[in-house]
Amino acid sequence: MYSMINWFTARLPIEYRTPGRFWIMMMGHNSFLRIWHKVGIGRQREQVPSNADPKLKALIDAWPCCRTGYYTVDIAGVQLPGGRSWSERWGAIESATDYDNKTILELGCNQAILSTSLMKFCNAKQTIAVDIDKRALRTGNILADYYGVSPTFIRVDFDAQTAWEDMLTAYQPDIVTAMSVLNWVKDKDRFVAFLSRFDQLLYEGHRSVEVETDYLLKSGFAKVDIVESKPGRRAVLLATK
Ligand SMILES: C[S@@+](CC[C@H](N)C(=O)[O-])C[C@H]1O[C@@H](n2cnc3c(N)ncnc32)[C@H](O)[C@@H]1O
Repeated sequence: MYSMINWFTARLPIEYRTPGRFWIMMMGHNSFLRIWHKVGIGRQREQVPSNADPKLKALIDAWPCCRTGYYTVDIAGVQLPGGRSWSERWGAIESATDYDNKTILELGCNQAILSTSLMKFCNAKQTIAVDIDKRALRTGNILADYYGVSPTFIRVDFDAQTAWEDMLTAYQPDIVTAMSVLNWVKDKDRFVAFLSRFDQLLYEGHRSVEVETDYLLKSGFAKVDIVESKPGRRAVLLATK
């Protein structure tokens, strides 16, 4: 491969050789990714009977395959690949608090599997799924459609100079979730000030249980319970006023 690139770029005028080599390698890399994506999608399609629900087929096409979704999800016997197991995550969260007939605001929702699951399986009244990532929200929409539920999807950058706090507060959520998102937000004080507007917060941070608990208590919550804490894994906490 490298000798082919060298052979080709050696035929370019000298001033184009280095950029030429760079672009050829980038094109090769992108083509590889595209082929890899098609192979992955192909493998998933093989698992699906030809008479399968078109919504499931749409979901498989939308799932970010080789770039991987945030979670691995099993749907109707098809495994949609991701970095973590959704069933393990859901096992910890589904009984963390009472979601029945509640409005839930999911911050940094990614594909909003949580919002969709809360509406589908826990009788949540409404979920508002918020993220900066357009592609993740689009896949989230298709996932929710497959399950026949309708979270409200909103694209927000928590670091933007817009009044997103007031816009989201207007939904009057009973529960707010911020799972593995604070770490990625630049203005952490602003984000935590927003979290502390609400009475119940389901939270996952990147630091130890002790540090995160102390942080939430100092941010205005009266009580912090451990929902799940396992060695080598980030803890899930429930903070209440
Ligand atoms: C690590 S994922 C967590 C996904 C999900 N909350 C979970 O743990 O179950 C972090 C998510 O936060 C989103 N995010 C990061 N920075 C953001 C920002 N400034 N505004 C809005 N969303 C952001 C990312 O797009 C990503 O979907």
